[in-house]
Amino acid sequence: MAIAKNKILKKKPAKTNHAPPPGQVLPYAAKYEKSVAAESFKILRTNLHFAIKFDQPRAILVTSPSQMEGKTTVSSNLAVAFAASNYKVLLIDCDMRIPNLHRQFGMDNTQGLSLCLNGDLPLDQAIQPTSIANLHLLSSGPIPPNSSELLGSEKMIQLLDELKKRFPVIIIDSPPVNIVADTPIVSSLTDGVLLVVSAGNTTRRDLRKAMQSLEYCPVLGFILNVIRKGSEGYYYQSYYNRYYTSRSR
Ligand SMILES: Nc1ncnc2c1ncn2[C@@H]1O[C@H](COP(=O)(O)OP(=O)(O)O)[C@@H](O)[C@H]1O
Ligand SMILES: [Mg+2]
Repeated sequence: MAIAKNKILKKKPAKTNHAPPPGQVLPYAAKYEKSVAAESFKILRTNLHFAIKFDQPRAILVTSPSQMEGKTTVSSNLAVAFAASNYKVLLIDCDMRIPNLHRQFGMDNTQGLSLCLNGDLPLDQAIQPTSIANLHLLSSGPIPPNSSELLGSEKMIQLLDELKKRFPVIIIDSPPVNIVADTPIVSSLTDGVLLVVSAGNTTRRDLRKAMQSLEYCPVLGFILNVIRKGSEGYYYQSYYNRYYTSRSR
């Protein structure tokens, strides 16, 4: 698995005219705009338009059965792809157990969702602009002891309603659906779920269990991530991930 990952990400990226300042932390698709990874997230964005209409604000949840399958990677890079097509995008880190989204942008996590839900932090103070045009981040905030309760609260429903008035596209990162209750709770508040599947790692049993937990929300499609180099012939071997539509609304 590790070898396959290294082969994919250590591929020399295409040169771009918009290289970020040296050392700046950004999702791969933003750092290397002309890479095959960036292209595959644009394809994912396009395919999503066939699965769901963006004629009204949409909140899309990204999850996977287990840890380390690429949820944070996919959500951040997909948000970059939407922002690049001029949507005003908000990324929300609902993984309050192992929050990582802020790290993708080199940002801090001292203020964020948990404080909005738990305390009185106004949304305006919690939402941070990123260095990418059109893209804002609502990080998880300090890790709370009661994330399931917070995410299942009335305040979370109100907060998402408010955010939908401000952002036409909301991408939500989440913890593994088979491990904690947080994700099924949040899924019921969204317009659809993208399920990340790690090639050669996620089992059918894991996937079946995940689908059962997500039965109250449309699964918009699957993202086959971390494909082993050479497993599908030359054409696909450099692709970062692939997207399969399942049911649509
Ligand atoms: N397609 C990919 N190619 C290479 N590395 C990847 C890929 N997807 C994820 N990774 C790496 O795998 C690790 C786990 O990914 P992450 O998105 O944090 O998973 P999760 O959020 O599901 O726990 C990270 O180090 C990430 O950079
Ligand atoms: Mg993660």
